[in-house]
Amino acid sequence: MSRLVVVSNRVAVPGESRAGGLAVALEAALEEHGGLWFGWSGKTSREGSGQLHERREGDIRYLTVDLSRTDLDAYYNGFANRTLWPLLHFRLDLVDYDRKTREGYARVNALFAEKLAPLLKDDDLVWIHDYHLIPLASMLRERGIGCRIGFFLHVPMPSSDLLAAMPNHSRLFSSLYAYDLVGFQTRRDVERFQDYVRLFGGGKVLRDGMLQAPGGRRFRAAAFPISIDTAGIARQSAAAVNKTGIRGLRASLDRRDLAIGVDRLDYSKGLPERFHGFERYLDRHRDQKGSLTYLQIAPVSRGDVSEYRKLRSELEQISGHINGAHAQPDWTPLRYVNRNFAHGTLTGFYRMARVGLVTPLRDGMNLVAKEFVAAQDPEDPGVLVLSLLAGAAYELKEALLVNPHDYDGVADAIAIAATMSLDKRKERWHAMMKHLRKHDIGYWRRSYLEALETA
Ligand code: G6P
Repeated sequence: MSRLVVVSNRVAVPGESRAGGLAVALEAALEEHGGLWFGWSGKTSREGSGQLHERREGDIRYLTVDLSRTDLDAYYNGFANRTLWPLLHFRLDLVDYDRKTREGYARVNALFAEKLAPLLKDDDLVWIHDYHLIPLASMLRERGIGCRIGFFLHVPMPSSDLLAAMPNHSRLFSSLYAYDLVGFQTRRDVERFQDYVRLFGGGKVLRDGMLQAPGGRRFRAAAFPISIDTAGIARQSAAAVNKTGIRGLRASLDRRDLAIGVDRLDYSKGLPERFHGFERYLDRHRDQKGSLTYLQIAPVSRGDVSEYRKLRSELEQISGHINGAHAQPDWTPLRYVNRNFAHGTLTGFYRMARVGLVTPLRDGMNLVAKEFVAAQDPEDPGVLVLSLLAGAAYELKEALLVNPHDYDGVADAIAIAATMSLDKRKERWHAMMKHLRKHDIGYWRRSYLEALETA
């Protein structure tokens, strides 16, 4: 078996960072293959970029690199999160393009290539993740690296016209041609990438997902919808119900039902729109008023980027308004919390909730939607209200699908979810759970790595 080398901006070094779903998946893959996980250390250094840190756990080697403040600002806060993130989430209005940050992004990718190239062997499988590292394969190829290199984009691939609106777009996006396999979340993302290759990228779309770059190099693009540890989350949430944090929330609800949302504080998640939809629900469904409490957990994210700070104050304003207008002396309709919780606690919250609200304006996949389903009590499952504009909507068809821009539609979906009969809830839940049991995180990584191995 080939050795696996994973590269991502954030590395889940054991004991250091939060263990998200992706970390669990990649660790399992690295344990199976033995291997290396490479990326940013999460630290800035006054000595400049390049200091390496190494850590070994069994057969896994974690190698991370410090960045200077200037490099981090240009690469992560700048080009990755002020240019690419909004662009890839269809938000041209928020794109800030700047040559300086673009250069910083290229510089950090070149630094990654410089540090990584000497460590690579011909039969390694290299798996590079997400929009922070698009040009990395082409930079490794320039250093003579010939092994198989795959890329997986966790976020959406927007329409080609949007990509083409970015200055110098082809320099960046045609660097994807250096990979052997480019993976996307959904079929639609693949189609939009094919359009880009054909219309703006000078390449050709061949059969069976094969693409041809202008120079004749062939590579594959395909969809690999990311998923969750379905069985693990079901177990974890069942075990969580008696923990103090969970019991405390239940007691505080005073027998009211719970609606829950859990999202990074990010404009792609549609939080202001969701709050407006919830207020519309309070206005339009007065018969239900006081029977449902909405808990929104929104840990602060990318706080150095101004759009994120603006969003935070906007949400404070809207949530204050909703509670001011609708609260009763003994009931607060919206509980809005910026802190983060342990994953086990969150799955316990999901299980307690009657309604799960996942209404992003755009999302590559959205794993909260999948985790909410997996965490439900089979005897009394809650209902998922899910945005049509999340990748997860292609799979979770039995959710109540909504357009997040339609506040009335969101309001009505909340009302339907809150009053759905047990039989209907079970029927919808079983259908989604059947899909998630088969298409879990292990399925995702095995299908991707098999495709890369044969690429
Ligand atoms: C999204 C991206 C990931 C990123 C995560 C958290 O899911 O696709 O690449 O790691 O957000 O954002 P952060 O900027 O904190 O890493």
